[in-house]
Order: sequence, then structure tokens, then C-alpha cells
Amino acid sequence: MLRRNKVTVVGAGNIGATCAHWIAAKELADVVLVDIIEGTPQGKSLDLMQAAPIDGFDVKLVGANSYEETKDSDIVIITAGLARKPGMSRDDLLKTNADIVGGVTDEIAKYSPDAFIIVVSNPLDAMAQLAFRRSGFPKNRVMGMAGVLDSARMRCFLAEALDVSVEDVTAFVLGGHGDTMVPLPRYSTCAGIPITELLPAEKIEEINKRTANGGAEIVGLLKTGSAYYAPSLGAVEMAASILKDKKRILPCAVYLEGEYGINNLFVGVPVKLGKNGVEQIIEISLTNEERAALQKSAGAVQELIDVLGI
Ligand code: NAI
Ligand code: 2OP
Repeated sequence: MLRRNKVTVVGAGNIGATCAHWIAAKELADVVLVDIIEGTPQGKSLDLMQAAPIDGFDVKLVGANSYEETKDSDIVIITAGLARKPGMSRDDLLKTNADIVGGVTDEIAKYSPDAFIIVVSNPLDAMAQLAFRRSGFPKNRVMGMAGVLDSARMRCFLAEALDVSVEDVTAFVLGGHGDTMVPLPRYSTCAGIPITELLPAEKIEEINKRTANGGAEIVGLLKTGSAYYAPSLGAVEMAASILKDKKRILPCAVYLEGEYGINNLFVGVPVKLGKNGVEQIIEISLTNEERAALQKSAGAVQELIDVLGI
């Protein structure tokens, strides 16, 4: 029997609720929004349902504080987590969010054993690795969203610098989601032309730095939270590529077993996303400098993995 796609979004905060919004507006799937706060996922789902007659999207949205409603989801997007609070060390935050993401993953594995998991919670690469280990799912079904966001930020800055449409600009950012991410100007283009031929080196370096600092720039402006429009759309773009078997090539955090010389670690690299999830990891050739930067970024992820012992 045919049925509509079903996506569960865990965490009904800024990113989770905006994911639900994008999914509904694009008529991608029915949505179950889950949060521990009573009333929040229910209220936001009801509000979005009431937007449906205005925009004309036919999807069903429900909110829940437990996982029965999420049963047999095709995709689960995990956005649950806390932001760092004053007095909290990076490791404290790591362990707190690991407890949250670990608990959520147990429920997903129980209720939706065939789902694809897209992790958004920070620290991204470590949380994706935790969801992978904890779920016991195969590596093609667990991935983290960060590269789509980081490369969108770079595309945005490049289009602005070149004074061209964002549609004509591509950008590649590899590595972990943090200060050590690796923007790759050699593989970033405007209408197929490498941007290294279009912009001076100093401007490219400035854009690389602004990209790596992209999350902090928005936190600095918002003061009470972090970015959510672009991050949520990044996760939904990944979900769409899987649900529609589009086979997009997107930078995603995936489990590497020797690719790029990195072993047993989630790090952002270009992958093909289709109906089987991560269908291919694409290895592009890197200069010695780029390879060293990627190794350094992987080292930063490994440090978190070591703290968690996963
Ligand atoms: P938020 O604080 O607005 O929402 C988080 C939600 O998670 C809250 O509603 C909270 O009640 C819920 N939650 C906490 N524990 C839960 C549990 N056990 N089960 C279900 N829900 C639970 O935060 P926001 O802005 O939505 O960010 C979510 C996460 O995404 C954060 O970890 C943030 O750092 C991360 N993030 C990741 C990005 C990426 O590129 N991967 C980009 C931006 C943010
Ligand atoms: C971002 O990049 C803070 O990870 C978050 O916006």
C-alpha cells in the first residue's frame, strides 16, 4: 500500500521547528515533531497545520513528547540539544548533549529501525558518530549535517564578492564542523570557473575565514541562540535527496574507513545521497596543504570521540 513519506524531527526548538516548516512547505513528508517540553511540539505542529490551508500544502504535522507517534519514520532528524551555558566547559556540553542524543537514538532505533538518521545537534561530527554507534545502524543510514550549511555560507559570501547570483556559485567545505573546517577554493566555482581565477587570494582568504567563523558570527548577532534558517534547510535538503532519490552530491559528515586517510571517524566529505542514504563517498584529490588541514580537522573531531570513548 502506498503511503506518504514520514519524517520525525526531534527537538522542537529553533532548528527543529524550522525543519518542520521547510518539510511542510515543500510537501516532502508528514512530520512528527518531538520534544521533552510539554506543549511545545504540539503547539508548533498545530500552528504549522493551520498554515496549510493558506499555502495549500497537504501534509500532516503532529507534536509529541514520546516516540509512539514516530513509529516507522523514513527519516529522523535529530536537533535536540542544549546550547553552551556560562560556566559550562566544552567537555561538559559535549557530555550533556551526548546524553541527550544517545537517549534520542535509543528511541529511534526502537521505533524506526529502518530509518535514516540525520544529526544536526552539536558538536556535530561527534554526535553523528554517537548516533551511529548507539543505533547500530549501517553507516549508509547515519549522517551529520554541517557541510551543506558551511558551503552555503561560503557560496553566499562568494556571490556577494563577485556580485553574481548565488545560483551560479558552488563551494566545497570539508572537515569537521568547527574552527578547523577546510574551505576548498580550488573546487569552488562561479558558472564552472574556479573562483581562484576570479578573486584575489586575499579576498578568498577573508571568505574562508568568515565561512569557518560563520556560526559564531550569527551567535554574536543573535546573542541568545544560534543560526537556524540555513541549518534547518541544510538538513531538509539532505532528507529530500534521500526521499526523492535525487543522488545529490553534498558535503556531509559520514563514517570514514580509510577514505582521505581517515579511519573510524565521522568527518565532512562529499557524498552521493539517494534512496540508500550515503551511496558513495567521493574522494577528490587534495594538495599536501589541503590534506594536512583535513587531517588537523579530523584530529579535532577525534579528541571529542576520545573524551566520549566511542
Ligand atoms: P534550541 O535550544 O532552540 O532547541 C533545542 C531543543 O531540543 C529544545 O526545544 C529542547 O527542549 C530540545 N531537547 C532537549 N533535550 C531533548 C530530548 N532529550 N529530547 C527531545 N528534545 C530535547 O536549539 P537549536 O537552535 O534548535 O539548535 C539545536 C542544535 O543544533 C544545537 O545543538 C545547536 O548547537 C546545533 N546546531 C547545529 C548546526 C549544524 O550545522 N550542525 C548549526 C546550528 C546549530
Ligand atoms: C552554526 O554553525 C553554531 O553550529 C552552529 O551556526
